[in-house]
Amino acid sequence: MNKITEMLPDLYQGRKPTFRIENEGCQMNSLQTESIAAIMEQIGYEKISSEEADAVIYNTCTVRENANLKIYGHLGHLKSIKKKNPHMKIILFGCMMQEPHVVETIQKKYPFVNLVFGTHNIHKFPELYYRTLTSDSQIIDIWKESDEIIEGMPTSRKYPFKTGVNVMFGCNNFCSYCIVPYVRGREKSREPQAIINEIKALVEDGVTEVMLLGQNVNSYGKTLAEPVSFAQLLTEVEKIEGLKRIRFMTSHPKDLSDELIEAMAKSKKVCHHLHLPLQSGSSRILQKMNRRYDKEKYLGLVEKIRTAIPDISLTTDIIVGFPGETEEDFQETLDVVRKSEYDTAFTFIYSKRTGTPAASMPDQIPEDVVKERFNRLLTLVQENGRKASSRFTGDVKEILVEEESKEKGMLTGRTEHNLLVHFEGTPDLIGQYVQVKLDTCKGFYYFGHIV
Ligand code: 5AD
Ligand code: SF4
Repeated sequence: MNKITEMLPDLYQGRKPTFRIENEGCQMNSLQTESIAAIMEQIGYEKISSEEADAVIYNTCTVRENANLKIYGHLGHLKSIKKKNPHMKIILFGCMMQEPHVVETIQKKYPFVNLVFGTHNIHKFPELYYRTLTSDSQIIDIWKESDEIIEGMPTSRKYPFKTGVNVMFGCNNFCSYCIVPYVRGREKSREPQAIINEIKALVEDGVTEVMLLGQNVNSYGKTLAEPVSFAQLLTEVEKIEGLKRIRFMTSHPKDLSDELIEAMAKSKKVCHHLHLPLQSGSSRILQKMNRRYDKEKYLGLVEKIRTAIPDISLTTDIIVGFPGETEEDFQETLDVVRKSEYDTAFTFIYSKRTGTPAASMPDQIPEDVVKERFNRLLTLVQENGRKASSRFTGDVKEILVEEESKEKGMLTGRTEHNLLVHFEGTPDLIGQYVQVKLDTCKGFYYFGHIV
């Protein structure tokens, strides 16, 4: 890094160089984006929001085709900007770059991209960036897999008071539609002590809310030399003084244990919010998706959780139009949505990902059929979500104040259920916990006042 810092005055004639970084995809990507941003700042670059920067960096996602198309769209646009400023460095990294056909396309069609790396060698960024600055050729460095977990990467948090913390990387589940296991590699858990130490340091630095992140946190710790369960990890994290809220994501229904439900119910810090991806309500489709649970098991879990934690906020992910999905299958999904009373459901149109088993399944569903189902699902999800989210009207809840809202004099924060609340207040309250009466529910958010 020092070598780069020393080069900058010559390279940019004494002015402070700039970079722009954009994140696509999930919260785990956001953390890596923050690391790269922190490295750029440490090197001596200033972060700006314009694309007319000395370095433009994209952390890419490939979970659905749209994400890929967006990147190719950005590249088309960057080509014209780079014509005016040939010294600009364009850098792509992350999940989409782990796909060989993407790298081939970039080599052939986008030779003006300077650096491409993947998900397994982010810690090599300073070295790769140094090579980028000292060479005119396109640098591509993709690792197929890595057993290593790199601790201690720099970070620059968006909020001083809350952040995500990785507890594990990769995924072993191979849901038949999903590209993640191919681009993120096998499941690897961080040592509990490394996680605890990181959170302790974050708390000392002003963090009071953490989101523990993994593709499937319920299988956390199974592959460690001394196995630890996710519930045990939560109990340890709970002991950290000064930490007020613990969230986690994502839970796979097949691995959601009674031990975890019990740990959540007992805890004073774990938020009463559970993201439990359904994907489909049809047992037949769930089997083809390789999800390893069926409709009854899922509904049984929902019941168990609601019994243990009656005010739990449930959210989910649903895919519409998986190959072979019939109207009857789709009706099963609607049925689960009606019964599960989700606060929010993230709905996705099935996207064919090259290399996954579902991509070569017969009976891919025509676009018009999928769109029509998708719209019906969205209407139901929104209706139910409004109903479920409004259940706290009139209650007083503790809110972590996050930011000023667009309206002047108003603040925005969240309840432990992850519901957004707008209320009057002054910016000095940002990062604080306040008691707010939830006066009116406007669909998915509340207006309230501090009491
Ligand atoms: N098509 C549509 N949605 C997908 N997801 C994952 N893969 C696909 C795909 N091929 C969705 C799942 C997952 C969420 C993060 O993205 O619902 O839970
Ligand atoms: Fe993809 Fe399934 Fe792994 Fe989630 S659990 S990342 S949907 S393969």
